[in-house]
Amino acid sequence: MAKPKAIVVDVNDLGFLDNENDRTGSFVRPVDTANMLKDIYWIEFELSRMTMGWMSAAADWGLKGELVRMAYLHTEHMKHLRERINELPGAALSDRSWTPNEVSNVFASIVLAPAFLEFAATYRIFVNKLYDKYDRMVEKLDPILDAPTLDKWRAIEMDRTQLSTWLSNEIRFAYVDDSEGRARFETWCRFVKRMWDGLDGGDRLEGFAWPEMPAVTPAGPVPVVPAHDPNYPHVDLTKYKSAMFDPASPTYDSVKHMVFINASEMSASESLTYLYYGIQKMPMDFYHDIARHTWDEIRHSQMGVRRLKQMGYDTRDFSWHPSTALTPDNLERTFPEFYSSLTMVMEPCSFIKKRKSIEAFKQFGDYLSSLQSEYDIADERLHVNFGKKWGAKLFEQMNDFVTANSVAEKAKQLHLRKMGYTEEEINSVLGSFPEFCGFATLDLTYDRY
Ligand SMILES: [Fe+2]
Ligand SMILES: [Fe+2]
Repeated sequence: MAKPKAIVVDVNDLGFLDNENDRTGSFVRPVDTANMLKDIYWIEFELSRMTMGWMSAAADWGLKGELVRMAYLHTEHMKHLRERINELPGAALSDRSWTPNEVSNVFASIVLAPAFLEFAATYRIFVNKLYDKYDRMVEKLDPILDAPTLDKWRAIEMDRTQLSTWLSNEIRFAYVDDSEGRARFETWCRFVKRMWDGLDGGDRLEGFAWPEMPAVTPAGPVPVVPAHDPNYPHVDLTKYKSAMFDPASPTYDSVKHMVFINASEMSASESLTYLYYGIQKMPMDFYHDIARHTWDEIRHSQMGVRRLKQMGYDTRDFSWHPSTALTPDNLERTFPEFYSSLTMVMEPCSFIKKRKSIEAFKQFGDYLSSLQSEYDIADERLHVNFGKKWGAKLFEQMNDFVTANSVAEKAKQLHLRKMGYTEEEINSVLGSFPEFCGFATLDLTYDRY
């Protein structure tokens, strides 16, 4: 009897799925979906960079928080998209993937808006066009075959109203009583719309010409001096090392100073936005972690300000720490140093204060403030882990290779040196964590409310 013919299937030979030229009529193949998602992925990333970059150009404290929230939402969309892209055939996204030039060139010019309102309008135009692009893609997707993509879309679509109506009234009435401003605004918006058309495939049409950029002086992103909300007057840094050392603050002598410290975390968040915008070509997970970190610091400052107001304080009664603009000339050293001292000194050291304050607040019956410290510690733990993951990589990116351990050591030394301690004092506490923190930060008066 003849042996039955064996059927051999090579389960690893999936090359046919990647072949983009093998058409199936007008139906969308898996590789087509992957390509559409990838186009969108980079637009989401550039929108997150744009909103993060303009945060420091917003003078209003509330708007700063909104922009970081929006940037964070865009990175959440990216995570959904990336998960699906990596399930589909076609070139997956890797650690080295970065915005393609056609996309980054467009964003590099539209981001240079001449004023905050023009920026808001630019964002609104692009985010609306992006959601229209999603709509066109979704319409093509097979509800059964591409159901996993559609599930990702459901999560992304939830943010649509929030993102696409941001500042819509301010934009509608922009420069309503200033005809010169209005003309500049309209010229700018026409330019931005043409740039989107080019980005969205228009540049492949015959007769398309990229518009000329209007001659304007950009007001952002990442201004050299961050715009400042007058309701949060700055501390005099020639008198105090940091805003929390200013004894004129109404909470200075009480455990409630913890709440003020939370409220003042806007400055950490703002400095992080410079890091997010300024550092190029790190793995995407880095941007996702930094976006989360930046957004968490906004949440901390929001919970702090909310609580201070509930307690009857006015933000103008305090003096606030200014943010550090990390400019291109100080980028090389300041970025990694700032990030390492934040995640390896300030945040781990703050655990001690925060833990003690949880109990102290309870003693005084202030359960909400106690709870805030609990959430705060939970978030900070995440940030310390981010620091371990990225601190050394940042130095590496700056062509200054150091191991994670020596980064922590270096960050601690630098911090104490900046605070004016001698080398001898520094060496004596460096190895001991609680002692080191006693040197590095302020302790609170826990027994007074
Ligand atoms: Fe924080
Ligand atoms: Fe933090």
